[in-house]
Amino acid sequence: MDIEVGTIIGPVEVGPVAHGGHCVARHEGRVIFVRHAIPDEQVMVRLTDTSKPRFWRGDAVEVLDPSPARVRPPCPVAGTCGGCDFQHVEWAHQRELKRQVVAEQLQRLAGIEWVGRVEKVGEEPLGWRSRMRYVTETGRAGLRRHRSHEVVELPEGGCRIAEPAGLTVDELDILAREAAGEEMVVAVADAVSVVAGREVLHGRPTVAHEVNGRRLQVAASGFWQPHQEAPQLLVRAVLKALAPRPGEVGLDLYCGVGLFASALAEKGVSVTAVEMDRRAARMASRNVPEADVIAGPLERNLRDLPQQVDLVVLDPPRTGAGAKVVERLVGLGARAIAYVACDPAALARDLKTFTEHGWVAKSIRAFDLFPMTHHVECVALLVPAPAAP
Ligand SMILES: C[S@@+](CC[C@H](N)C(=O)[O-])C[C@H]1O[C@@H](n2cnc3c(N)ncnc32)[C@H](O)[C@@H]1O
Repeated sequence: MDIEVGTIIGPVEVGPVAHGGHCVARHEGRVIFVRHAIPDEQVMVRLTDTSKPRFWRGDAVEVLDPSPARVRPPCPVAGTCGGCDFQHVEWAHQRELKRQVVAEQLQRLAGIEWVGRVEKVGEEPLGWRSRMRYVTETGRAGLRRHRSHEVVELPEGGCRIAEPAGLTVDELDILAREAAGEEMVVAVADAVSVVAGREVLHGRPTVAHEVNGRRLQVAASGFWQPHQEAPQLLVRAVLKALAPRPGEVGLDLYCGVGLFASALAEKGVSVTAVEMDRRAARMASRNVPEADVIAGPLERNLRDLPQQVDLVVLDPPRTGAGAKVVERLVGLGARAIAYVACDPAALARDLKTFTEHGWVAKSIRAFDLFPMTHHVECVALLVPAPAAP
């Protein structure tokens, strides 16, 4: 059946939440991934993608039977902007939806029955993001619509999840004109920096974050855990899981500017760290001078890792580490591996590989480090499975 994007269909009964921020619904035998809905609601859906034969995508545009967890989004462009997809859900229920997604991914992809919860972070679901990326092609600071190149203008008062940086929307718009179409990054740390490409529009090219008593320098446009509480919280979770001892040998893989390497080094662990981004790797060497930092893709440097280690921290990008990396890590004799994951599906796939090589997930914690969005961060502790009696 040919049906045009923009067609409104319904009433649609909304089913369970799925990985990716949408709920699964069925309408006249077809699966529809519906954004801005909540399980068990009845909604009218505006179709946004009908190109696939097996499923369509759509947005809930009218709610006929609302969930008790539905709230008025605090941002006037919620629902249009691609950034926040859970603003219409009460905050505690956002965590419940994320719990369901983590549990479902772990069960389906790794065969793990997870009974944890998603831990609340901070007192507010707004004003947490220390890194913002704005598009500037319209001559003003904007954000993108979901799965689109269309630009959404900032509302009065700016993005609600951005850490207030002391820059008004008018000031951001002035900087956006200077950015001349390049993506503009605003980094809030010890100071505020705004960069676009190689141009520093405000502040300095690098900023510093104090974590665990150490000052870590990071490029304003480089990777840094976006929630203002994330670096300290993740370091605590990793140290609690690994309980490092002085004199042990450890790895910090996908190390960025050395967040976990610095925490392990502080505990007297001798650290080798690996990072693909050369600028971040240079900063990791400076931030953690005790560590041996390898600059390059991990999968091409597996032979350069120490032959025997005690501990590993693994914090891969959204795609996960993959079988080749996992298969190398299980042969290094480690007593424990802390896996920090921003994607529960990638985590589950890698956990399956670990399990196939005789490792078990001793604990898996989940943190609400991306309030108002469907994203969730997990920290898994992996240990070699005890030998059968
Ligand atoms: C999720 S970030 C974690 C960074 C760091 N652990 C932190 O918390 O600040 C993932 C990091 O992996 C790096 N990366 C991505 N692919 C990589 C690869 N194939 N090999 C090594 N590093 C990689 C990215 O540049 C990024 O710094």
